[in-house]
Amino acid sequence: MAEKIKDNLYWLGMDNPDSRDFHGIYTPRGGSYNSYLILDDKPTIVDLTNTPFLKSYLESLRSVIDPKEIQYIVINHTEPDHCGAIKEILKHTINAKVVCTEKCREFLEAQFDIKARFQTVKQDEALGLGKCALRFYPMPMVHWPEAMMTFMEDGKVLFSSDLFGTEIAHESLYADDMKDFRSLTKDYFAIVMRPFFKQVQKAADTAITLSPGLICPSHGPIYRNKEIIGLYEKLAKDPEEDKFTIIYYSIWHGTEKIAKQIKEALKKEDKKVEFFDIERSNLVHMMASCLTSKYLIIGSMTIASSYHPSFDALFSLLKLNHQKDKICGIFGTHGWSSGSVPRLKEKLEQMEYRPIAEVDCRFGKVSEENIEEFKRKILASS
Ligand code: FEO
Repeated sequence: MAEKIKDNLYWLGMDNPDSRDFHGIYTPRGGSYNSYLILDDKPTIVDLTNTPFLKSYLESLRSVIDPKEIQYIVINHTEPDHCGAIKEILKHTINAKVVCTEKCREFLEAQFDIKARFQTVKQDEALGLGKCALRFYPMPMVHWPEAMMTFMEDGKVLFSSDLFGTEIAHESLYADDMKDFRSLTKDYFAIVMRPFFKQVQKAADTAITLSPGLICPSHGPIYRNKEIIGLYEKLAKDPEEDKFTIIYYSIWHGTEKIAKQIKEALKKEDKKVEFFDIERSNLVHMMASCLTSKYLIIGSMTIASSYHPSFDALFSLLKLNHQKDKICGIFGTHGWSSGSVPRLKEKLEQMEYRPIAEVDCRFGKVSEENIEEFKRKILASS
């Protein structure tokens, strides 16, 4: 149901607490698709919702205003999580014009076959609603080409669309009232934003210039401070932290044993380690871990003279991280012929990563000296 943010501004929902997947992200705390209502002489909605939430959405809207009174619907982004229900919603908001960029209009018509009264807007253009005005800032490829953010000058409210989002249901309307969810923001950032990190940097710069007092993204909670801009900037410009990501694939536990030995050796040095069995871990979460780790340690048993193919899906996602020169260590096992370690090395070099240590163990046998030498080489690269 609708919740008041301030006298002239409402959150219209929607939360999906039972959702456990979004764009491949594991979402243990659900998801949300935010829509906002501005009450002014010309009542205006910013962003909509998807079809499964249509009934609840209309109830939420009607709890504040008769949909026929809506004069404008601002569309920042046309992906179905925000616009899937537009055709049905327009049947109820019969007096509304759809305000969006020309590219957005094209996408709306092509995806949803809607016939609407459009008012297209451009960079820095303003739209008066009565007492307050909206100003528009297209941000192509954050996350789609038609993406835009909208700024309400009265109260300095930024409707940032996918930018500054986290896929999480509201435990409170406001981020500072929720228990920590930074790890989920990083997962969302990795798959939704990092492929477009240069455009994200530019949009974050625009947001800083606007100095919003309230940041209202289309996923997750509302921000009463600028902390989320700082986190997004860090993830776009300089995401690596002084930590290690270890990812392995094992069948007979030989590679797993080496992975654990490397982890323990690093822990003895007080190093932060994130540790993944690739078969039992979420791909996007591993992508985010790799994005934010200075060091990647990767290991596989040998199969068909190479590493296990489950790594290929991970490598495809890692390309979207657009990182070079990441310091890597490689480990693996083989029986009669070495395969996983040399193929992993080739692959990481193709990705322009920097493999600097390797340990390749026949039938999984490894000495403490092997592990120490591997660790020494990695730490010497710091
Ligand atoms: Fe939340 Fe790109 O849609």
